[in-house]
Amino acid sequence: MSNINLDTDFYETEDPIWNPALLTIPVPGIRRMVNLAATMDDVIHLSIGQPDLKPPEHVVQAAVDALQAGQTGYTMDAGLPELLEALAEYYGERYHRTLAPENIMITTGATEAIYLALTATSAPGREFIVPEPSFMLYAPLIRMNGGVVKTIPTRAENQHQLDPQEVIDAIDANTYAIVLNSPSNPTGTVYPRETVEAIVQEAAYRGVYVISDEVYDHLIYDGREYPSVLSCCSDLDHVMVVSSFSKTFSMAGMRIGWLMASQGAIKKLRRYHMFTTTVANTPCQWAGVAALRGDRTFIDDMLTEYQRRRDRLVDLVQQTPHLTGYRPDGAFYLFPSLPDGVNGGNVALKLLRETGVCTVAGETFGDSCANALRISYSTSLDQIEAAFERIIPWMEKQDW
Ligand SMILES: Cc1ncc(COP(=O)(O)O)c(C=O)c1O
Repeated sequence: MSNINLDTDFYETEDPIWNPALLTIPVPGIRRMVNLAATMDDVIHLSIGQPDLKPPEHVVQAAVDALQAGQTGYTMDAGLPELLEALAEYYGERYHRTLAPENIMITTGATEAIYLALTATSAPGREFIVPEPSFMLYAPLIRMNGGVVKTIPTRAENQHQLDPQEVIDAIDANTYAIVLNSPSNPTGTVYPRETVEAIVQEAAYRGVYVISDEVYDHLIYDGREYPSVLSCCSDLDHVMVVSSFSKTFSMAGMRIGWLMASQGAIKKLRRYHMFTTTVANTPCQWAGVAALRGDRTFIDDMLTEYQRRRDRLVDLVQQTPHLTGYRPDGAFYLFPSLPDGVNGGNVALKLLRETGVCTVAGETFGDSCANALRISYSTSLDQIEAAFERIIPWMEKQDW
């Protein structure tokens, strides 16, 4: 009994108290690896999905100041008006479009915004197109409410780019929404403007929603322009765009995100939000105002650092036997492939046990990428170097 994985036990229980919808939630692959790593000494984590850099001092101070000034009550349900205004201005300038505070709702991280967007729209018979591999939240939230997930597998040899025509061809009478995530977790892929425009325009024409998770919208390398769905749609009637402060300002634990959509959609989602979390954390919303209104050089410094790590990681993966990588343009992940037929789950587990390097198995992000590993570079260059000093000789010994 001592080796029973409690997560498996919980999710596979026949105990009728649990809503069967919970069965759509998989045993989190990342948790399983991290739990095992916690029992080991001298582990190097390349499994981390949150920034390792400290948030800007003035942002932390704004949260402290808000607490001390007694900003400890609820805000209005859509969010702190000062933050809604700051976001409307910020996005308006960034994408040259007019946004009103009424187009925005503040949530408890992007996670709540994704939860609301997907569970408020998913229903039996409705289809959601989701590129694969994808961030693990989307498919279970869609399935939980009876919706059907239609995956579009992307391939490592195409740097996991999405063929817009494949998405368009997958739209049928039951399609309700297309879920996009660029830059992507787990691949770091950034879709070019042509791809986003083609999908958004066709979706609007066919009355299909595009739900776009843009939490990595500032983690774009080599000075590239970021084609947000917000800059590719003619109106907001068929889009919901989600982002947060988690990655851009290293504020993951402060839990402030938002959803942008038509005013009609925001009105409906506000009701649901009130019945889900009521409002987001008040002092941290003030920290968000400081992040947007204050000095933003933090973002440039962060990009320089992540880009340096990305470049080195791409080199290291290239030197590693059995791993085929590519050069991702965004986020802080690389998703290299193992040879065809080799199971990334087994490899990740064996790699952790035998070298103490913790990665995440590709199968966590979809069935079509079971021969991949997700490597995060949200850790210092020294740690990345040290990890590959273990990985390369270990891979040399494998005989797949
Ligand atoms: C693609 C993606 N969306 C959403 C989130 C969650 O963001 P938040 O911390 O704002 O809830 C993450 C976190 O790792 C992510 O990778």
